[in-house]
Amino acid sequence: MDMPTAIIDHTFRKDVSRCFDQRTYALPARWLYDRRGSELFEDITELPEYYPTRTETKLLQDHGSDFAAAIGKGRAVIEFGSGSSAKTPHLLHAVDPAAYVPIDISGEFLELSAAMLQGDFPDLPIHPVEADFMKRVDLPDAVADMPKLGFFPGSTIGNMIARTSVDLLRFMRETLGIGSQLLIGLDRVKDRQVLIDAYDDSAGVTAQFSLNLLDRINRELDGDIPVEMFRHVAVWNDDYARIEIYLEVQEDVTFTIGGTMHSLVSGQRLHIENSHKFGLRDARLMLRAGGWTPLCDWSDEQDYFTLILAEAHPYKHAP
Ligand code: AVJ
Repeated sequence: MDMPTAIIDHTFRKDVSRCFDQRTYALPARWLYDRRGSELFEDITELPEYYPTRTETKLLQDHGSDFAAAIGKGRAVIEFGSGSSAKTPHLLHAVDPAAYVPIDISGEFLELSAAMLQGDFPDLPIHPVEADFMKRVDLPDAVADMPKLGFFPGSTIGNMIARTSVDLLRFMRETLGIGSQLLIGLDRVKDRQVLIDAYDDSAGVTAQFSLNLLDRINRELDGDIPVEMFRHVAVWNDDYARIEIYLEVQEDVTFTIGGTMHSLVSGQRLHIENSHKFGLRDARLMLRAGGWTPLCDWSDEQDYFTLILAEAHPYKHAP
């Protein structure tokens, strides 16, 4: 289930071709996270305007005893898209797990953060899995018979359109099994300016994060896109309840990618990211659609961010 570099190359190439050859002018957000992009995202999480990370971390810190009561001890914690595992220790302290399985697509990051975490939890069995969590994942045999808690923080699910997010939740149900629990972090609908500022910060870090995607195309697919001609644009789409991120070209440009020539007219936008925001009922409906029954939830006092605990019940209800 791992994703070797050659396959990343191939799918990246295919997605970039769809963007410029078939003129969809859209690129999946997953390509933002190469090494440089992952570093820039870590910087974003420390920006004053970017409230999600610190709000969610505080929720994890503050509600340890609630988690212990609702989740119990001795489960295997399976984290989807674990990245740096920065928020994980708070949860692990609260639920005293029997094992920890971080799943991430980037193998090198995974081993590094697993080793760091092992330092804090010397007796905890850690089984990193390098895999694409957008499909069902084969878990290590060691955790097969343990009760499980999925952990999906960061409102990462907000990057996905409705259909894809429900597919993912159903895959997670398959991966974890009936009787499992899922603790998921979701960013809430809020004041529009607060949202826009979080995705268009005054230091321009989010703009760098977006523009790095063009640098990545130039680096990995032999392109000469004039990156300095593009500007980062964040807009709130109220119908879809999401922030949309675009790269907008400021003049007519012509460039090549892997020897193929492309032209864009001034003002053309490339759609590179969505970040959906949720009402509590929206969030619960999405979870149920994906086979997860919400049990309880925790929010900060401003309702900026919410953690929901859900359980995979057997399908036994009338339609
Ligand atoms: C990692 C998807 C949760 O949508 O808030 C932050 C990504 N993009 N700033 C988000 C992101 C620009 C982030 N997620």
